[in-house]
Amino acid sequence: MTGASTGLGRAFAEMLLADGVRVWGTSRNVTRFDGWEARYPGRFTPVALDLEDGAAAERIFLACDAQADGLDLIINNAGYGAFGEFGDTDFAVWSRQVTVMLTHTAQLAHVALRQMRSRAAGGRRAAIVNISSLAAEFPLPYQSAYNICKAGLTALSESLMIECAGTHVVILDVRPGDYRTDFETSVARPPQRVPDARRDRAWRAFERMMRSGPAPAHAAANLRRALLRGKSGTLRTGRWFQAVIAPLLARFGSLGLKRRIQASYFDLS
Ligand SMILES: NC(=O)c1ccc[n+]([C@@H]2O[C@H](COP(=O)([O-])OP(=O)(O)OC[C@H]3O[C@@H](n4cnc5c(N)ncnc54)[C@H](OP(=O)(O)O)[C@@H]3O)[C@@H](O)[C@H]2O)c1
Repeated sequence: MTGASTGLGRAFAEMLLADGVRVWGTSRNVTRFDGWEARYPGRFTPVALDLEDGAAAERIFLACDAQADGLDLIINNAGYGAFGEFGDTDFAVWSRQVTVMLTHTAQLAHVALRQMRSRAAGGRRAAIVNISSLAAEFPLPYQSAYNICKAGLTALSESLMIECAGTHVVILDVRPGDYRTDFETSVARPPQRVPDARRDRAWRAFERMMRSGPAPAHAAANLRRALLRGKSGTLRTGRWFQAVIAPLLARFGSLGLKRRIQASYFDLS
C-alpha cells in the first residue's frame, strides 16, 4: 500500500493489520513507521517509496512482490494536492503532479496486474484498489491537475474493470469525499503572481470542509466491506451529502445545476 504513513492510507493499513493481513506500507520517510514493526510483529514491512520516480517505484514494487511471494492486494493511495489558479501556476508544477500522481500510479497498477496475471493459475484471488476522489466527478476549483489525476485514475479503474471481468483480479475505484487527514496541510501552494479574492475564498472553503470531514477510520470500514464483497466496482465514501446526495443530483440534474452547486459549495457563486 502506498502512502501508509498517515491519513487514509494509515487507516487502511491499520484496518488490514487488525484483520491479520500482512502489509507492506510505503512512505518517503520510513521513520514515520517507527514502532509499527513492534506493534505488528512479523506483519508490517516499512518500504521507502517516492512516486516522483516511476521506474524506481516499479523496482521497489517488484522487490516487495518477490518478498511476499506475490502481493494479492495493492492499494494505490499515495497522493497530494496543489492549489493554484491554472494560468497563474508554473506549468512545470502542474505537469509534474500529473506525471507523479497519475502516470506513476498507473505504472504501479500496471506492474501489479502483470504480476497478478502471472499467478492466475494458482487460483489465488487478487485486488487492485485505486484511491481516486469525488473530485473525479466534482472537480475542485483551483486544483485542476489534481482533478485530472483523479479523473484519469477513475477512468483507468473503469477500463480495468471491463478488461479484468471474469478473471481472478478485482478492481476497486474508491472515491472519498473530504476526510480529516494531513492532506490539507500538505497541499502545495505554488506562488501566484496575481492576488485573487475568489481564489482565497475557495481556499478557505476547502480548508473548512477538510477540517470538518469524518475521521479516516470511516473510509477504512467502508473499504473493508467492499473488499469482503470481492467484486469490482466503485466505492463513494464520505459525508452523506457528498457521497450520496451530490452524485444523485448530478445524475438526474443538469450539468449547469451541478456547476452551480459546486460553485456555491466553494463560496464562488
Ligand atoms: N483526505 C481527503 O479528503 C481525500 C479525499 C479524496 C481523496 N483523497 C486521496 O486519498 C489519498 C490519501 O490522502 P490523505 O487525505 O490520507 O492525505 P495525507 O494524510 O496527506 O497522506 C498522503 C500520503 O501519501 C504519501 N505521499 C504523498 N506524496 C507522495 C509521493 N510523492 N510519493 C510517495 N508517497 C507520497 C504520504 O507519504 P509520506 O509523506 O509519508 O511520504 C502520505 O502517506 C490521496 O491519494 C488523496 O488524493 C483524500
